[in-house]
Amino acid sequence: MKLTEEEKRMLAGEFGDFTKKAMDILVTLGKIYGAEKMCKIYNVHSPGVSYRVTGNAGLNFVKDAAYKFGCKMKCMTTLNTIGIDYDKAEELKFSKNFIEKQREILKAYEELGALGTYTCTPYSIGNIPKFGEHVAWGESSAIAYVNSILGARTNREGGPTALAAAITGRVPAYGLHLDKNRKGDFLVRVEADLQSDRDYGLLGYYVGQQVENRIPVFEGIENPTSENLKSLSAALASSGAVALYHIIGVTPEAQNKEDIIAEGVEEIVFTEKEKQEVFDKFNYTGDADMVVIGCPHCSIVEIKNIAELLRNKTVKSEVWILTSKPVEALAERLGFKRTILESGAQVVTDTCPVLAETVRDYNLMVTNSAKMAHYAPGLWNVDTTLIPLEECIYSAVNGYWGGSHEITR
Ligand code: F3S
Repeated sequence: MKLTEEEKRMLAGEFGDFTKKAMDILVTLGKIYGAEKMCKIYNVHSPGVSYRVTGNAGLNFVKDAAYKFGCKMKCMTTLNTIGIDYDKAEELKFSKNFIEKQREILKAYEELGALGTYTCTPYSIGNIPKFGEHVAWGESSAIAYVNSILGARTNREGGPTALAAAITGRVPAYGLHLDKNRKGDFLVRVEADLQSDRDYGLLGYYVGQQVENRIPVFEGIENPTSENLKSLSAALASSGAVALYHIIGVTPEAQNKEDIIAEGVEEIVFTEKEKQEVFDKFNYTGDADMVVIGCPHCSIVEIKNIAELLRNKTVKSEVWILTSKPVEALAERLGFKRTILESGAQVVTDTCPVLAETVRDYNLMVTNSAKMAHYAPGLWNVDTTLIPLEECIYSAVNGYWGGSHEITR
């Protein structure tokens, strides 16, 4: 690998032992994947911040960087969703040990210079890399979004590599950092009607299963909203390992079909039949004791829609509306939060059921998120129903979901 003078000095230990270790990790990774050089970066979104995911090994790694070696991050670094909403620690019954360990992780990251954003949608709160910019991002749904919708470039980073990138300001130039690896190699012709974020989740879930680690190109999607694309990104990255996709005429690298995909690649069609197939997988009825909306974290647009649906209603189910603190603050200012709380639903920030320490059993989980529907059954052995937002709210108000035999939206 060809390194600059500064990179060689980092590797030689001139900037301290932890920077040397970080550069070692990145150079080793680069050699494994055939990188010829490093890319200079300024933007990191770090995963592995939840104590539930990172455990004591991750805690010690970040504490070493912050306190033992006194490192500082070179890049603007936002932090992914954590394992707790500190404003609700007692209410949601988190254990004392978990609360303390999570706090230690956050303090160490803060010492390193990271921003305590604690969200899986950093692009909703101001971390918006430029088109073509090399970045180091973790969190599967955010990776798919930043590569595909914003056109920035990242591989899938984990906690240690994101930290190494933030400290050195470098990532090895391989994989999705290179033009030649960003073309599509799997065509999806969309013929089904896509009306809700949930529908985009059904599409993403189906295609994620088919495509494995290839790069899907969608044809036939018109005028999706940012929220639709957030849902599609999360679903593709949960049932599959999709880190980049293109939509012809919509995403920035796919303005022309011939520029982004070669003739003769494998192709599938997504019709109402395939949509129904995924719907049937997550179609349970019964007492809906848990309703989760906001996986990935809600934007202010989603919060507004939820508030309008909940106005003058009372929920019977436990309802978690997941978002970030900045979006919650805006929702408070605009009156949406009060409307939501008056209904009995909760606005839960910084965390989500997947990354939090869960404290109870559920009978039926209702969600509009394909990603949540994918993870919930394995995590809590719970039946999960995947329905549009309006139906999620309907089931929360009734405390029951009676099901629908056909998709109406
Ligand atoms: Fe975000 Fe948690 Fe879903 S991190 S994408 S809300 S699983």
